[in-house]
Amino acid sequence: GKALKEVVFDGMSLPPFKPLREGVEARLNAIKHLETRPTDILLAIYPKSGTHWVWEIVWMLLNGRAEYIKEGKESLFLEAMDDIGTIKSMDSPRVLNTNLPFRWLPQKHVESNGKIIHVIRNPKDICVSLYYHFIGSGLFMHSDGVQFADCFEGLFSKERKPPYGGWFSYEKDFEEAVSNNYNIHVLYFENLKRNPMVEIKRLAEYLQVPQSTKLLHEITDSCSFNKLKRADDTLKEKNKYKKIVVGANPKFEGDVDKVQYNSFFRKGEIGDWKNHFTVRQNERFDELYRKQMVDSKLTIYFE
Ligand code: A3P
Repeated sequence: GKALKEVVFDGMSLPPFKPLREGVEARLNAIKHLETRPTDILLAIYPKSGTHWVWEIVWMLLNGRAEYIKEGKESLFLEAMDDIGTIKSMDSPRVLNTNLPFRWLPQKHVESNGKIIHVIRNPKDICVSLYYHFIGSGLFMHSDGVQFADCFEGLFSKERKPPYGGWFSYEKDFEEAVSNNYNIHVLYFENLKRNPMVEIKRLAEYLQVPQSTKLLHEITDSCSFNKLKRADDTLKEKNKYKKIVVGANPKFEGDVDKVQYNSFFRKGEIGDWKNHFTVRQNERFDELYRKQMVDSKLTIYFE
C-alpha cells in the first residue's frame, strides 16, 4: 500500500521517524545510554496521552512564566530528533521526552533517581486520538488509507505488534517501576483535565519549583485546551514544522502545501471514544482489559 512501513524492534512497532528508519537499534541504545544531567526532567508517556500538554506545563513551571514555546518539546523528543547529540549543547534544565517503555529509558537517569513524569490516559480515548493523528499526519500514511477499525486492531489485537509494544505492557511495566520506588510522578490525563490547578500544583511540588498562586493560575489558563490550541495554530513555524513532518516520509507523493497541519491539540476531551467505538469493539476491549489488567491496581478513568 501507500503507507510508510513502520519500524519494528523488540516487539514494538515504532513510528517511521528518520533516525528509527535508519538505525533503530543504534538510536534506542543511544537513548538508553544517554549522558543525562541530575537536573534533567524526563517525560515518559504512551503516545496520545498528553505529552505536549504536560511538556508545556513543566516548561512553564521551571521557567516561572506562562509562555508557550513549541519547538521545545520536539527538539527534546529523544527517538525523533535528527541528531541526538544536539542535546549536549542545550541549557539545563532540559525537559526530555519519549514514548519509549520503561526498559528503554536513559538508565543513568532512572538509576540515579532522576525525575520522571508519567501521564496515564484511558486507552479508549488514546485509540481515537491516535486515529486522528494517523489521518492528519503525512508521516504515517495517506489520509484515505486508514480506517478506525484498523487503528483499533493495530492498537489492541494480540496478533499485531502494537505501537511502542502496546498500552497494556507499557502501563504494567510502569506500575511495577512505581512499586519499585523509582522517582516517578504519576499523573492522570483525566484528573489534569478536571482539576488543572490541583495537578499543576502537585507537579510544581514534585519539581521543587517556587509556585505562587498567581503563577499557578496563569499556567492553568495558558495551558487550557483552547489557549494551547490557539497558540499552536498561530505559530509562525507551523508551515515549516509541517514540511519537516511530511518531508520525513519518503513515500509521500502529494503536495505538501495541501496537507493539513497535524495539530497535537485536536479535541482534548474525556470519553470521545463513545462517538467512535462500536458496541462490539467496546465489548472486545473491556474483555481484553479484564484479562490483561487482572493483576493491576491501576484505576483508569474511562469517562
Ligand atoms: P485528542 O486527540 O483526544 O484531542 P500527545 O501530546 O501525547 O500526542 O497527546 C495529544 C492529546 O492530548 C490530544 O488528544 C490533545 O488534544 C490532548 N491535549 C493536549 N493539550 C490538551 C489540553 N490542554 N487539554 C486537554 N487535552 C489536551
